[in-house]
Parts: sequence; structure tokens; C-alpha cells
Amino acid sequence: MPGSIFGKAFQVSTWGESHGRGVGAVIDGCPPRIPLDERYIQAMMDKRKPGQSAASTTRKEEDRAVIMSGVFEGMTTGTPIMIMIKNKDAKSDSYKPFANLYRPGHGDFTYQKKYGVRDWRGGGRASARETAGRVAAGAVAKAVLEMEKIKVTAYTLELGGVRAKGIRAKKNHLDSVYENPYLCPDPDAAVAMDKRVCEIRQQGDSIGGIVEIIASGVPAGLGDPVFDKLDAELARGLMSIGAVKGVEIGAGFEAAVKTGSTNNDPVLPEGFASNHAGGILAGISNGDDLVMRVAVKPIPSISIEQTTIDINNQPETIRVGGRHDISAIPRINVVCEAMVYLVLADHLLRQRSIQK
Ligand SMILES: Cc1cc2nc3c(=O)[nH]c(=O)nc-3n(C[C@H](O)[C@H](O)[C@H](O)COP(=O)(O)O)c2cc1C
Repeated sequence: MPGSIFGKAFQVSTWGESHGRGVGAVIDGCPPRIPLDERYIQAMMDKRKPGQSAASTTRKEEDRAVIMSGVFEGMTTGTPIMIMIKNKDAKSDSYKPFANLYRPGHGDFTYQKKYGVRDWRGGGRASARETAGRVAAGAVAKAVLEMEKIKVTAYTLELGGVRAKGIRAKKNHLDSVYENPYLCPDPDAAVAMDKRVCEIRQQGDSIGGIVEIIASGVPAGLGDPVFDKLDAELARGLMSIGAVKGVEIGAGFEAAVKTGSTNNDPVLPEGFASNHAGGILAGISNGDDLVMRVAVKPIPSISIEQTTIDINNQPETIRVGGRHDISAIPRINVVCEAMVYLVLADHLLRQRSIQK
């Protein structure tokens, strides 16, 4: 069964492996006459590029997104849009020592069990490189949503146990996200995060954290009441990103310890008095900001010695050196934005189709 297609009305498939010739996406269902060019897509791609914080890999990928089809004279034509990103800085030889070993925390073991064959160069399809295609597709969805003034911003809430403080209380906190390389609206926390990343790098280890994502300008009425609930679709989209291990919407797990009277959002003529619902009620957007958080696991590749087995089930030890991120945060932040843009574009078009 194929599993690389996402969305119903705004449908995206990604393709490619870490050390193959390239990665990319095909978008089918994008409406015509949306302004779009490579520069617009590249601006979003550049946010995912390595080398922008100390937590990032030293792999130098230019990540140049090329539009192969579906755009003419700066406008979408309504036909499939294919975007290609060539792989340039792949050093496959450094993965040879692991070709017959299962790296702990990676998909090596499960891919072998599922397919009986795997591209061991850089994690193949399970590599974070696949997310370049998602970000390119997310940029197309963003262009569609920009016409509706819908905006998605992801920022770092926590990294390696360092938590940002008081950010929601700050007015316009989303404006300061890009003021430091950790994409954290609390500048003091960003300094502490950098210190933590440097300590962890010295130890040859890795860290995880939490990314918070806000979608503003979302009209009431997007989503569906049952299987395709907007929160279910957002959770699926976000959870499909490598390294994401948990998704919360609104109050999330905290809702479990609240009472009805403290969790309900009172309804006033001018809107909701609070937003514990995270902008979604019964699977449908309520016009408030959508609020999501994802838990990101520590990067599996670490240079500390670990135990594993080879493909013949023989015990081995392994140290995964080489070029890798210390944390998927902050590079994962724009991938989260892309997945939320994709879900919202899909549901916007689905909603339009029932209102016609
Ligand atoms: C933006 C991003 C960057 C990542 N960088 C790395 C990396 O450099 N090294 C690594 O081992 N895993 C990296 N990962 C995580 C792996 O892709 C992921 O943990 C692995 O495929 C196993 O999948 P799972 O975490 O969903 O179980 C990254 C993930 C993302 C989204």
C-alpha cells in the first residue's frame, strides 16, 4: 500500500531519499491563479537549512527548490505542481560501517523487517532530508492561505530541559521568534539553550524539546465532525514528522487535570474569553488561534557507544559519529509550520467545496 500521499482536496506526495539524486513533492489540487514563484518557496526552504544554530548538522545543502511544472508566469495553473530539490552534499561512504548494523533510535531495524531491503545511506527515506519536500509543498499551501490572511508560526518552547518563560504574556510574541537562532521568543532562554547544546555536543549526546505552533486568522468552520476532525488531522500531520513523539492541542494533557468549569472557554458576544480548546471545538475551528505543541525526541545519531545487533542478529557496539543535528529543533520548526499549512489548505478547499 502506498503511504506517501497526504490530503484530500489539496493533495501532496513527497518522494526521494537522503543520499539519492534528490527529494521533492508533487502537489495536486492547488487552485489556479495563486501567485507563486521559486523565490517564495525558497524563503521557506531557507528556514530549514542546516548551519543556522549550534544544534544543526554541518551537512551543507543549498536546498534549491526548482519548480518543474504547474506554474506559469508567476501563477499556479491548477495543474500538478512538481518541486525538485537536488541532493548535493551527500557523503554516503561515512554510512558504510553501519550498512549491516541497526542504529538504535533509527528506522534501520523496522525498514529491514518491513521491506527486506533498505537504503542505508543517511537513513534513506526515513531521513530528515525528506522533510525538504514537505516544506516546499508547505510553501505552496502557505501561498494559498496567504490570500485568506491565515498565518502559521512555530517557535521553540523548550530545548534540552530549558523552558521559555512568559512568552504568551508578551504582546506580539510571535514577532520576536526570528530574533535568535533557536527561534525562541524568550531571549534569555535562547542563551541558556545555546549553552545546553554546546554542553551536549561535548558529551557526544543529543537532546529533544517542545515546539509550539500558532495558526492565526483561521476562520470558524474548517474541519469535520468525526474521522477528519481538524485536531485529528493536525495531529496526524505533525506526528508524521520524524522525531515527533507527541502532539497537544490547546490545553492538551493539562486538560486531564482541569475541571469543566476551568477548562471550558466562556463564550461572549465578542468571542471566546479563553482558548483552552486550542481553537477547535468538536473537530471544527472556532475562529480563535489554533494552538499546538509537539514533543520532539532527541536525535538518534550519537557518538556515545551503544549496544545493537547486526543483520545476522549478532551483538555489536556502535558509535554514530559524523554530521548530524544535536537536536531536530530548531530545524524542525518550519517543518511543523509546513504540515499545519498543508492541513489548513486541504480543509479550506474542502470547506469551499461544500459551500459552493
Ligand atoms: C529537521 C529534522 C532533522 C533531523 N536530523 C537528524 C539527524 O541529523 N540525525 C538523526 O539521527 N536524526 C535526525 N532526525 C530524526 C530522524 O529523522 C528520526 O528520528 C528517525 O527517522 C526515526 O524516526 P522516529 O523518530 O519518527 O521514530 C531529524 C528529524 C528532523 C525532522
